[in-house]
Amino acid sequence: MIESMPLEDELGDVLEKALKLRSLPEEQLAARSEVSLRKIKDAFDYRYDFTPDELIRLAKALSLNEVGLSALAGGQYPLPTVPVFSFVLRPYSLSLGTGKVNAYFVHHPGKKEGILFDTGYQPAEITNCLKKDELCPTAVFLTHADSDHIGGLPALQKAFPEMQVWGPRGEKTDKAVQEGDEISDFASGQIRVFDTCGHAERHFSYLVQGKGNHSVLIAGDLIFAGSLGGAFHCRHRLWENFDRILRVLPAQTLIAPGHGPLTSVANERKFNPFSV
Ligand SMILES: [Fe+2]
Repeated sequence: MIESMPLEDELGDVLEKALKLRSLPEEQLAARSEVSLRKIKDAFDYRYDFTPDELIRLAKALSLNEVGLSALAGGQYPLPTVPVFSFVLRPYSLSLGTGKVNAYFVHHPGKKEGILFDTGYQPAEITNCLKKDELCPTAVFLTHADSDHIGGLPALQKAFPEMQVWGPRGEKTDKAVQEGDEISDFASGQIRVFDTCGHAERHFSYLVQGKGNHSVLIAGDLIFAGSLGGAFHCRHRLWENFDRILRVLPAQTLIAPGHGPLTSVANERKFNPFSV
């Protein structure tokens, strides 16, 4: 079950990402927080020896959410209960070396056709999963073109030749998406497109809106439960988009990230270390 899978990032990863986002050298963090440099370096190697007070000082020095950072450090980062929607959201947790990468299939209850979001890394894995579940993607939406998210695309296209490919321009897509696009002719309801670049130059998130308030954001590597994606393209844009998404989407929106467990806008507003 994807809900019970481990978080993508632990305390050491979050501290490292925060240092990069704030452009702060480790030595300066040690001086500002009055936490020894040795302890900070140990944390990057996943050895933790912080007191509760030190964690609060680290959070302050890095402008992080201290409640969330302390929860993460205690191995007790909260996760919300996943609601029942008017559509079916099927998370697939797929192989990626020692880690995992997520793909999602969305369809109406009782229908086998639906929309796939990302394809995972291994060439045939998602195709085999969908065939085993007797599901048929009429379209796949790609969040970004990193190989861990699109590695399964060629095999999928072979297995489902009618399937349309939507995503960033120039990334083997049939239809290029852009900020503000609303695609409403799919069985799952309406899909709204957000340009959420920062992790990658071309990175999109998709809000799937069913009946009533039922909505889920397929977030790729923008936001994870308890963390955010690596800023491989632009840290300012990543930060702006992370902040914008948490501000503009309704609190009850479920977040389906590219790695790690499902979460919600309300949960990440309250606890994500980068949400202040
Ligand atoms: Fe990824």
